[in-house]
Amino acid sequence: MKISNAELIISAAKKFQFPEGPFPEVALSGRSNVGKSSFINTLLTRKGLARTSQQPGKTQTLNFYFINRRFHFVDVPGYGYAKVSKSERAAWGRVMETYISTREQLKGVVLLIDARHKPTEDDLKMYDWLKYHDLSVLIVATKADKIPKGKWDKHVKIIKEDLQVEEEDTVILFSSETSYGKDRAWKEINALLYS
Ligand code: GTP
Ligand code: MG
Repeated sequence: MKISNAELIISAAKKFQFPEGPFPEVALSGRSNVGKSSFINTLLTRKGLARTSQQPGKTQTLNFYFINRRFHFVDVPGYGYAKVSKSERAAWGRVMETYISTREQLKGVVLLIDARHKPTEDDLKMYDWLKYHDLSVLIVATKADKIPKGKWDKHVKIIKEDLQVEEEDTVILFSSETSYGKDRAWKEINALLYS
């Protein structure tokens, strides 16, 4: 996809801040540090657009990126970061519940999983929760550059088995380091947005 325009339009902490309008959107979810912001930057070929960091738990708002004035990417706070307080975690849970269960523009979710490890308990819960809300999910196994190619199939198989990925959902390998999987990711995201 050719990106002619990409801008962060709002970092929303509350529902009233979610942008209105008819534009379809795809949200990015995954545990802290899995590579959500890097994924957005790689897809958009914009290095510093979505803030990435070594410090997990940095993204604490729903960040709406408006792409080509046609659709939104929504960068969601990462889960599973131990140092986030209980009350912060509960507040995040409430915003997310509202967003996932009421947002009509939401056409699907990209769930990012670290390709190197088995999905965590939080990953399993997140996938089940998204399916409970009847959302289409694209699973992106990140940091593929950190595992040898010969092991890729095995790691994808483990993710599929552990999450009990439904027939309609796709699992792809991805690397923000090498851009591996970028074209496939765009194809799948287009399918989420416009089908
Ligand atoms: P939060 O916003 O804290 O939830 O994190 P995030 O999921 O947005 O992760 P982010 O994109 O900030 O990346 C976290 C760290 O992983 C950074 O140091 C990235 O450079 C690194 N990283 C992300 N994707 C990849 C990848 O595909 N390969 C490698 N080798 N490193 C990556
Ligand atoms: Mg981030």
